Amino acid sequence: GSNQMWGGRFAAGPSSIMREINASIPFDKALWRQDIAASKAHVAMLEKQGIVSMVDAAAISGGLDQVAAEYEANGVPENWDLEDIHMTTESRLAELIGTAAGRLHTARSRNDQVATDFRLWVRDAMDEADAGLKALQVALVTRAGEHAASIMPGFTHLQTAQPVTLGHHLMAYYEMIRRDRSRLADARARLNECPLGAAALAGTGFPIDRFATAATLGFDRPTANSLDSVSDRDFALDFLMTAAQISLHLSRLAEEFIIWASQPFGFVVLPDSLSTGSSIMPQKKNPDAAELVRGHAGRIVGSLTSLMITMKGLPLAYSKDMQDDKPPVFEAASLLALSVAAMTGMVAEARFRTERMRGAAELGYATATDLADWLVRQADIPFRQAHHITGAAVKLAESRGIALDQLPLKDLREIDSRIDERVYAALSVEASVAARASHGGTAPAEVEKRVAEAKVALGLE
Ligand code: ARG
Repeated sequence: GSNQMWGGRFAAGPSSIMREINASIPFDKALWRQDIAASKAHVAMLEKQGIVSMVDAAAISGGLDQVAAEYEANGVPENWDLEDIHMTTESRLAELIGTAAGRLHTARSRNDQVATDFRLWVRDAMDEADAGLKALQVALVTRAGEHAASIMPGFTHLQTAQPVTLGHHLMAYYEMIRRDRSRLADARARLNECPLGAAALAGTGFPIDRFATAATLGFDRPTANSLDSVSDRDFALDFLMTAAQISLHLSRLAEEFIIWASQPFGFVVLPDSLSTGSSIMPQKKNPDAAELVRGHAGRIVGSLTSLMITMKGLPLAYSKDMQDDKPPVFEAASLLALSVAAMTGMVAEARFRTERMRGAAELGYATATDLADWLVRQADIPFRQAHHITGAAVKLAESRGIALDQLPLKDLREIDSRIDERVYAALSVEASVAARASHGGTAPAEVEKRVAEAKVALGLE
């Protein structure tokens, strides 16, 4: 038979292909809580405005509560003939309360309904992501505080560059996540306008109060243009762009843990709870969780690409293509939540092998810049010349397989006679990091300041 919602103008029902390609209920059932909340706000407003009687509004509102209780207990039924969560709920409401159910859709369309539900869902996802990122920041700051003075090699090109502290390195990720949380806050502020009441595309002739429904649903105001209201998915794209940016940061952190956990580095022992073994090699402990965080970043970026391409050619206002907005957002949100939780656990529970880190900093000629800087400061040699002299010292030490500060003074003075015994104080890795006390530098005292500021910002102190 033809459709119970719009069958009036149809002679025949949909083909099985039409039913299947049209059905969004398999995924948009995730919106059921938002759909019930928006419908309750809508019917309360209709009653207040005298558009629906008190008796019918009470029946509708009570019926929606019952539908919600059923969904909570048994899940949302998936009937492709009902297409989506909106019609599934309205149809069940009609079974429960009869014809009064038909008054709920007054002054509303599924176009403004789905835009409202989806905004509410994405708003929750943003709040969940923010809470997860805050927990990750707490883990980073806690470990950074423990390791403000733990020395490790700093890298450029993944080649040993200058000594830094592990606390400084971890605080770099704190900064990335701080920016990500501010991106989420920006996106949330832009999202928080209510499309409900835009109806199909042009607004409605009923005397509705859009400010009332906006306020009930926690929006700052109603949207200003009905065409934009039903065709805008910027809020979902903002979320995906932010999710993609976050996933890039998580992926880089995951990549560092993977490298650090490898045997040649040996900088970190990953928690057993976030590692796996091998079915053939008994010695193996693999960083699978970190690798999956790195992998999931690709899928999250893919979700962003997917929705951008869905939206790029759509004329105003609603087109059915927009039904495809939800799977990428749902997938990105759940992959992101898992990735944030995995990295939080990894940071909180990793065992850092600080002796290995310190040893790697010492053996990589990481203090060569300090020798050059010393020559500039103590002997007033131009930096370029000091760079050259230092290069000769590194070459000599390397040929003997020893560290810079293990070169005898006699050999150093043969390279340049202006070098004296005071140079050794500058060549230790401790002296190197302590010297870098410029604002934001790696000196332990600076790192401790940044950690203290971060703890205040997070409400930990
Ligand atoms: N299932 C639809 C979606 O998710 C709801 C809106 C349908 N509107 C329409 N004009 N067919 O986009």
